[in-house]
Amino acid sequence: MGNSSDFQQGKEKWEADVEKASQRFPERKKQFVTSSDIEIDALYTPSQEETHSYEKDLGFPGQYPYTRGIQPTMYRSRYWTMRQYAGFGSASETNKRFRYLLGQGQTGLSVAFDLPTQIGYDSDDQMAEGEVGKVGVAIDSLKDMEVLFDQIPLNEVSTSMTINAPASILLAMYIAVGEKQGVKAEELTGTIQNDILKEYIARGTYIYPPKPSMRLITDIFAYCQENLPKFNTISISGYHIREAGSTAVQEVAFTIANGIAYVDAAIEAGLKVDQFAPRLAFFFNAHNQFFEEAAKYRAARRIWAKIMKEHYQAEDPKSWKMRFHTQTGGSTLTAQQPDNNIVRVTLQALAAVMGGTQSLHTNSKDEALALPTEDSARIALRTQQIIAQESGVADTIDPLAGSYYVEALTDKIEEQVNEYLTRISEMGGAVQAVEEGYMQREIHQTAYDAQKRIESKEDIIVGLNEYKVDEEINPDLLRVDEKLEENQINRTQQVRVTRDQQKVDKCLELLRKAANTNDNVMPHIVESVKAYATVGEIANVLRAEFGEYTAM
Ligand code: 3HC
Repeated sequence: MGNSSDFQQGKEKWEADVEKASQRFPERKKQFVTSSDIEIDALYTPSQEETHSYEKDLGFPGQYPYTRGIQPTMYRSRYWTMRQYAGFGSASETNKRFRYLLGQGQTGLSVAFDLPTQIGYDSDDQMAEGEVGKVGVAIDSLKDMEVLFDQIPLNEVSTSMTINAPASILLAMYIAVGEKQGVKAEELTGTIQNDILKEYIARGTYIYPPKPSMRLITDIFAYCQENLPKFNTISISGYHIREAGSTAVQEVAFTIANGIAYVDAAIEAGLKVDQFAPRLAFFFNAHNQFFEEAAKYRAARRIWAKIMKEHYQAEDPKSWKMRFHTQTGGSTLTAQQPDNNIVRVTLQALAAVMGGTQSLHTNSKDEALALPTEDSARIALRTQQIIAQESGVADTIDPLAGSYYVEALTDKIEEQVNEYLTRISEMGGAVQAVEEGYMQREIHQTAYDAQKRIESKEDIIVGLNEYKVDEEINPDLLRVDEKLEENQINRTQQVRVTRDQQKVDKCLELLRKAANTNDNVMPHIVESVKAYATVGEIANVLRAEFGEYTAM
């Protein structure tokens, strides 16, 4: 940059030009802000950047504080995992969709379970009525899990499971399926979501109160440390916090606050930070404002690296690295003009890639209306493949770095996230903040304000409040077989009458005892699922011992 007076002169001339041009074309808005209410300047220039020290604030890819990415070569060596969230109906239907997507070039699996499974009810429990197989696959026993992964070698694919309160049960089933396939537990790769705090905050599939829930989570950490060294023990999620209406800053802040609570809980349970931290993982949303989203991931990596290195004194660089999955924002999809969603998902996916995600799910265009058809799921996957193979953005690392705007936004997001983290720490941490409803209130206020901006047309959603057309609702929607529930109930009752009931009773009794001591419950859950005890039976043993959480 030339000397500062040239710069100053140039800036003043530009300001005069702006003044003149605005006479005929004034700026569109009084104020331009991001989702986090960060003011967007008309122009970013080197002056904001002089304070930037490359080494301290950015660093090289694969080096602390990882602003530019966690791997030295990033996508030049390996693309992000293309990991489409899928699951509906019966295990055999979902197995078919899994094998279809793998055949179409997907590189990781991601299981969507139905609500009864997620909340620990069997398909024949009256609480499950009308929900069996609806928002995900119905899994009642190991028999279903064997069908779910039929012809899918678990030593060749990594599987994410979106399961939280009963995470221990589904993880145990995955281990048991691996064993039946001849795959040792230590070879299994994948992730269990296992993040209960965001369930209290935003998603709602909790069962037990916070204390026993945190115990189940750290039992999984300890068990995986010993038996599943390649398995990611938690996916600390901001996705659903954002879906509930948070800003980008709140998404990162509340997620990292939850991450801190899990690290504290694990240390309190006697685990060593460098033993469990390398297997913590994260999960973020990719929302509409491209630059804020890309900057959000860069800021999140830097914040987490500093917390793990400086606050927790972790020594293993793997403990400092924030590895995360991204899903494009479901709540941004419109039921109107569904094809428009392909464009939204493309931009959101691009932001995630420019932000250095390790794994990515792209939503299907029809998901504001129903679960995706095979065709719309394929277009969603093709979106990732085109970005990877044709756009060139994966051919250099962190291409947005050095952008005056992106670096300023990264700094600003980091600053505002840290303000939230200080506030939450002063409240006693995330568990306390959740129990007081603090995060929930912050999110609800943001969601309310955003809705008001859409209704007043301050924010335009194309096809929704502007550029509307009269249209037929898309006729080719996926329909779930109505006989599904009855068939699933029959299968589960068949399992119950053919298993060794004495063995089941014994396993469940041992589990009940373990739940009342400081013993790790995982080994007893593994034995119970191998005896074909069901999700509901196991979850109910823990319900009896831990009680159930009821939101305020
Ligand atoms: N150079 C060197 N090594 C590299 C590399 C590179 N460029 N790129 C990758 N690798 C290595 C990694 O280090 C890793 O090896 P390691 O395990 O020995 O370290 C291996 O290659 C695999 O790479 P990643 O771990 O980066 O990729 P994965 O896809 O396996 O894992 C993850 C990504 C984020 C760590 C993991 O937690 C994950 O897959 N998460 C997915 C979670 C998910 O799918 N959630 C969906 C939830 S759906 C939901 O909740 C929404 C619903 O409610 C609506």
